[in-house]
Amino acid sequence: MIETERLRLRRWEARDLAPFAALNADVWTPPLSAAQSDAMVDRLEARWAADGFAFAAAERLADGDFVGMVGLQRFAGVGPLGPCVEIGWRLAREHWGRGFATEAGRAWLEYGFGTLGLGEIVAFTEAGNAASLAVMRRLGMRREPARDFVHPDAPELGPLLVHLVAAA
Ligand SMILES: CC(C)(COP(=O)(O)OP(=O)(O)OC[C@H]1O[C@@H](n2cnc3c(N)ncnc32)[C@H](O)[C@@H]1OP(=O)(O)O)[C@@H](O)C(=O)NCCC(=O)NCCS
Repeated sequence: MIETERLRLRRWEARDLAPFAALNADVWTPPLSAAQSDAMVDRLEARWAADGFAFAAAERLADGDFVGMVGLQRFAGVGPLGPCVEIGWRLAREHWGRGFATEAGRAWLEYGFGTLGLGEIVAFTEAGNAASLAVMRRLGMRREPARDFVHPDAPELGPLLVHLVAAA
């Protein structure tokens, strides 16, 4: 578990399922059903058990409100992006525009480099996702176009733009 100034980043609990399903029906394209959202939590918890880290639940410290998902996870790699650890974020719409993704992302980068001893952490998204690209920039990640790739599960997104930050 990690605590930042405003957030608690932690493993998934049963009380997260309903707000995460609402988030995934609202901000994700294509929207996930509640069953798909619940299955995603099961997969994330399996990753926590296997790897010791995965995309985490984020809750607001002040009141325990579910904010979304931010964390690190292993990615098997596709094409020029080989096996790596990626950082990712997905917040409930009512929590956008407050700096929560950047605050949690910064904490996960510190954890990845400081505790896990990673050499680099990557992020990737489609060219049209300005909000996610802005989080990558705020976190000091730099473009790595040589590793851009098309995800076989979502070719319609076009090339995913890879950003990375390396250990200091
Ligand atoms: C991508 C996503 C997480 C970005 O959320 P976000 O709230 O824009 O990002 P941040 O948490 O970094 O917040 C930055 C914004 O908060 C503002 N802000 C307010 N208070 C702040 C504070 N204390 N600290 C930092 N920023 C603050 C910033 O000015 C910025 O606003 P702007 O976009 O109008 O310039 C969100 O859009 C989302 O969940 N999208 C759907 C899922 C998705 O696409 N995920 C990525 C897939 S690759």
